[in-house]
Amino acid sequence: MIQIKHVKKKFNNIEVLKDISLNIDDGEIFGIIGQSGAGKSTLLRCINGLESYDSGTILVDDQEVNIRDKKNLRNLQKRMGMIFQSFNLLERLDVYQNVALPLKFWNIKTNTKETQKKIMNLIRLVGLEDKLHAKPRELSGGQKQRVAIARALVLDPEFLLCDEATSALDPEITKEILALLQRINKELGITIIVVTHQMEVVKQICQKVAFLSDGRMLAAGSPEHLFVWPKETEIRNFLREESDKLPTSGVNIKLFFFGEGNHKPIVTQMARELGKDFNICWAKLEDFREDVYGSLVLNFDEKDLEDVCSFLDKNNVTWEVIE
Ligand SMILES: Nc1ncnc2c1ncn2[C@@H]1O[C@H](COP(=O)(O)OP(=O)(O)O)[C@@H](O)[C@H]1O
Ligand SMILES: [Mg+2]
Repeated sequence: MIQIKHVKKKFNNIEVLKDISLNIDDGEIFGIIGQSGAGKSTLLRCINGLESYDSGTILVDDQEVNIRDKKNLRNLQKRMGMIFQSFNLLERLDVYQNVALPLKFWNIKTNTKETQKKIMNLIRLVGLEDKLHAKPRELSGGQKQRVAIARALVLDPEFLLCDEATSALDPEITKEILALLQRINKELGITIIVVTHQMEVVKQICQKVAFLSDGRMLAAGSPEHLFVWPKETEIRNFLREESDKLPTSGVNIKLFFFGEGNHKPIVTQMARELGKDFNICWAKLEDFREDVYGSLVLNFDEKDLEDVCSFLDKNNVTWEVIE
């Protein structure tokens, strides 16, 4: 478990992490999302001791991350594999040698049967067994990231830290890499932290997410909680919600559907039962991991508000008036 408590950090007297507190549980896929410059990479680098913090604590299984304690830091970093947007592979090494590289840094013999088997298993896990002796320049972006993932796993880490790992990939390849990360989380039980500016990444794989804006953590929780119904202006701006272009006359009401609620013909029932006219101004269906969440904005005459609200309450629909 990783516990971050009141972490602050400055670069050249500018605060880039402002009192960050969050917990990452074992076995979780945890997302850290926000705009460029929000402090996401800095926070990630504090977690694995590539960067120091000025105050607060970061505990990994009750042990403080301390960049001055070199011996403990080295052991901590061994427990945390990391992948990046730019893959960071060595051009002169082939796929097999790139995956084996961390073992060399740790003076672990790579020519034993056992180690060779382990490297091959990882290369098979990421689906590159037919590219064993290819050099990075002969690989696509997605394949390069697969090599980087296998390399990050070769020291049997408990955590996999991903910094914009899919930001350089096209949408289809992104999906494949995310599916691979999900498999690694499930099958190997590795806790995964993904830093990203891409909503799709969080929606597809994260069980929990923290939203960072200008060094501050604005909200944390399940992605569906944070993003289907965002209250914070910064999060709405980040999502570029269409609901910011709604009609300025009448009342706009946002309805919220999930699970069973997706299958009830609430809107047509309401029209029939109340005999009122209204406009459907905006609608959205979104996948969050396995679930579909829907939201819908209706525009009514002011005088119908009371009837509409009581109908929605009676039918257990979650709603809010958009101010
Ligand atoms: N090594 C550094 N020296 C000075 N400023 C830095 C350094 N690294 C990051 N910053 C600044 O800290 C802020 C947060 O950066 P970063 O953590 O990279 O954000 P993100 O990953 O969310 O894009 C930015 O304003 C950035 O310019
Ligand atoms: Mg970054």
